[in-house]
Amino acid sequence: MKIAGVPTRTLWLADGAVRVIDQSRLPFEFRTVDLRSLADAVRAIRTMVVRGAPLIGATAAHGLALAVRDDPSDRAIEDAARALLATRPTAHNLAWALDRMRAALANLAPAARADAAFREAAAIGDDDVARCRAIGEHGSAILRRLARETPDRPLNVLTHCNAGWLACVDFGTALAPVYLAHDEGLALHVWVDETRPRNQGASLTAFELAAHGIPHTVIADNLGGHLMQRGQVDVVIVGSDRTTAAADVCNKVGTYLKALAAHDNGVPFYAALPASTIDWSIARGEDIPIEERPARELTHLTGLGDGGELTTVRVVPAGSPALNLAFDVTPARLVTGLITERGVCPATSEGLLGLYPERRRER
Ligand code: MRU
Repeated sequence: MKIAGVPTRTLWLADGAVRVIDQSRLPFEFRTVDLRSLADAVRAIRTMVVRGAPLIGATAAHGLALAVRDDPSDRAIEDAARALLATRPTAHNLAWALDRMRAALANLAPAARADAAFREAAAIGDDDVARCRAIGEHGSAILRRLARETPDRPLNVLTHCNAGWLACVDFGTALAPVYLAHDEGLALHVWVDETRPRNQGASLTAFELAAHGIPHTVIADNLGGHLMQRGQVDVVIVGSDRTTAAADVCNKVGTYLKALAAHDNGVPFYAALPASTIDWSIARGEDIPIEERPARELTHLTGLGDGGELTTVRVVPAGSPALNLAFDVTPARLVTGLITERGVCPATSEGLLGLYPERRRER
């Protein structure tokens, strides 16, 4: 993606540090933060300076590399992996990236580990870019096909949360098809769910789409069903933080309600995800750990005041308890298809195994 005309990833190396975009300041301020230690990486993931499943994985890999640079011992690697794994429990990309890092370092002498760790972390980032680009190609073919049914108006896509460039290293998962189709000249318009409580849709997806010149409209989370009833949504595309071997899709809370409404109204509902999101060890969506975040994210809102200052206000009575579960699970039966880097498959275990046959052999 380009920021002010300059191709920019969400994470890169600079001045001996891992430089990331501070997503907690967007869309009001574009600021970068330098991660120089394991503690910096843990804090950035936990406080959502970086977020989005693939970017959490890439940041964790670089966090482990920073830890190895300070101490390449087996013990330090295990401690660092444990600290990183505890930051956000739902996104599978985190465990996937840490496993890949540990495997790359396991048989190396300590003196060789720091360089190898940064090389592997960079490869994880590059892989994510390639996978997202491929998701974009497979997904844009779906959008072009659907657009043939509505030749006299732009195709209306609805998305939830932020599964775009900012959630990955580049391109995005759910938004990659949108970017590619737009760049190929397809007329489309995106309904952007605001995505309470943290508003990743209103703040991050809207920021990304605006930066790329893609027509979009931010809507309250509750409007999607109504728009679907009126024929104003042609397709829903979301990302995934963890997908089970049976193709249940865990994503930002509220995704399930969109899938129910899409199913009721005959609107195709796709989840776009790289293989690093698939947890082959879990078959049932109920077994996915759901992150509970601070109630304050729900009871308070932050935005730009009329004076141009970032302002936080309480929107819930002081005495009312609040429950902030960050994800929900959409059962596979409500998902039209999974858009992966290897192609599109039905949301079934057989569909997934058809694209990833090596997993069949491992069973
Ligand atoms: O809590 P977040 O902002 O990390 O949640 C992000 C999402 O739910 C995305 O939809 C998900 O990571 C999809 S992958 C790009």
